[in-house]
Amino acid sequence: MCGIVGYIGYRDAYPIIIKGLHRLEYRGYDSAGVALADNGLKVYKKAGKVSDLENFVKDINLSGSAGMGHTRWATHGVPSDRNSHPHSSGDRKLTIIHNGIIENYAVLKEALVAKGHTFKSDTDTEVLIHFIEDIQLATGKNLHEAVRLALNRVVGAYAIVIMSADHPDELIAARKGSPMVIGVGKGEYFIASDATPIVEYTKNVIYLNDNEIAYIKRDDLLIKNIDNTIQEPYIQELELKLEMLEKGGYDHFMLKEIYEQPRSVRDCLRGRIYPTKGIVQLGGIKEYVEKLKNIDRIIIVACGTSWHAGLVGEYLIEEYARIPVEVEYASEFRYRNPIITSKDLVIAISQSGETADTMAAIELAKERGATIFGICNVVGASIPRLTHAGVYTHSGPEIGVASTKAFTGQVTVLTLMAFYIAQQRGTITQSKFVEYLTELNEIPELIEQALKCNDQVKVIAERFKDSTNCLFLGRGSSFPVALEGALKLKEISYIHAEGYPAAEMKHGPIALIDAEMPVIFIATKNSSYEKVVSNIQEVKARGGKIIAIVSEGDVDVKEMADYVIEIPLTGETFVPLLATIPLQLLSYHIAVMRGCNVDQPRNLAKSVTVE
Ligand code: F6R
Repeated sequence: MCGIVGYIGYRDAYPIIIKGLHRLEYRGYDSAGVALADNGLKVYKKAGKVSDLENFVKDINLSGSAGMGHTRWATHGVPSDRNSHPHSSGDRKLTIIHNGIIENYAVLKEALVAKGHTFKSDTDTEVLIHFIEDIQLATGKNLHEAVRLALNRVVGAYAIVIMSADHPDELIAARKGSPMVIGVGKGEYFIASDATPIVEYTKNVIYLNDNEIAYIKRDDLLIKNIDNTIQEPYIQELELKLEMLEKGGYDHFMLKEIYEQPRSVRDCLRGRIYPTKGIVQLGGIKEYVEKLKNIDRIIIVACGTSWHAGLVGEYLIEEYARIPVEVEYASEFRYRNPIITSKDLVIAISQSGETADTMAAIELAKERGATIFGICNVVGASIPRLTHAGVYTHSGPEIGVASTKAFTGQVTVLTLMAFYIAQQRGTITQSKFVEYLTELNEIPELIEQALKCNDQVKVIAERFKDSTNCLFLGRGSSFPVALEGALKLKEISYIHAEGYPAAEMKHGPIALIDAEMPVIFIATKNSSYEKVVSNIQEVKARGGKIIAIVSEGDVDVKEMADYVIEIPLTGETFVPLLATIPLQLLSYHIAVMRGCNVDQPRNLAKSVTVE
């Protein structure tokens, strides 16, 4: 939520900042702004997208080799010019950009107003910069010390960059609970919420840790923690490649990411399965082999699409590793008083690795003695650093706000984990392992075949693009796929959609069915096929329009359904990885046909760093 970019060096800062903001726009896109050190501080900001800011400044001569920019996802204060970042102190000498939430801003603001401060915006961020200014005035301390003292009194999460008119040759950056990366060049430094704005300039990065403050000049970097102790920076090399961040000829990132799935699932499996030997290797959790033999229960915590992947994981782990699994919304788990013991394993799933609720759930479970594994996509994000161990999905950067390849990556890792735990606990025979892993190894190829339904899906999308409601039904591990199909459709096309276990339909949702209602069934050949066929008949009898995802060669459902989409035949375990493909394509095409902004749906942001 909210993207921040900073630059100090020998080049013009504005082009670097604006390009970086476009890369980070997935994090928020309701307003944007820049500040440049150019004979004092020049601040320009505008409600709307980054391109609106570009238009706004197009006739202005923007120079300066130090600056910062922000793209916002509103928390405090509606999206507007005045609530856009950067925000400045009362004397306009200091300016700040911020990602996160200052929870005690109201108390701080009240005290500042009593001292005569006046505010131009409704944001918590403006309060923070006035607070820093106030500490400077009251204590006579220099800016470094004022920032440090202020951050010691702030409650909440932040990634901030501060510039000062009195010190135009320095950027001050700090983080707690919101991500921040510093790119290290020769005579230049870059700052960003993730590495995507940095990768084309340098591969060397430092991930700032919580409670660290970086004082950055063109040729000098000093990192201290908020207790004022100097920290040794750890420089890492980025694996990210520039071409991963481009659309590569596709109209939208979402479509590109849907089509990347044969590759991303293959990358996820690479080096981890040995089908002929029947072995799964997960280096990230191998130190916990003994622990895995003795755990009593697994609790999966996640949000949104990642939670749906967790539900698929529940089926897989219970089926193969024979351990009870509970799947929890991280936001609910963290505010209950859950019973957790040291014999619990908590698996936190997050594409971004930054979701605030998931992080809080991890912290709670850790305090209570559980072992925590992470399943994340973004390497070096906060969650992989919070957990005891974990497995990356290796899906590559996911830029479309609606999650697609991250979901199949998460389901793939959960499948691997289910098999890995089963291997340690001896709950599957070796010959079965060989069989399952041989099938799993073929999944990337089968996803490729499943993608061939695209033209057929387009025809269905054309027919149902004006629907106002839609039901998605499935049984077993196809139920979470139905939930995911419904989420995809509602978030990018704004059509109301619900996912249900197919048998639950007759306990309520059946009342919604009429001749206008599209009902999407996942009706592949598996153990509950006959039951799903009965559910299809129930909808048909009430005039609903049936779209069915079926296994190649299906006969029975074809006779009943209005539209069928075939996916390759595979074992029941792997159906979620294939059945999800046509659902992603369906929501994509419907959204495009309705003229929606597919990659940046309204009100959403990719990385939800507020609770
Ligand atoms: C939906 C979507 C969201 C995320 C959710 C969790 O397409 O992307 O529902 O899945 O916000 O995000 P992560 O996985 O980054 O923790």
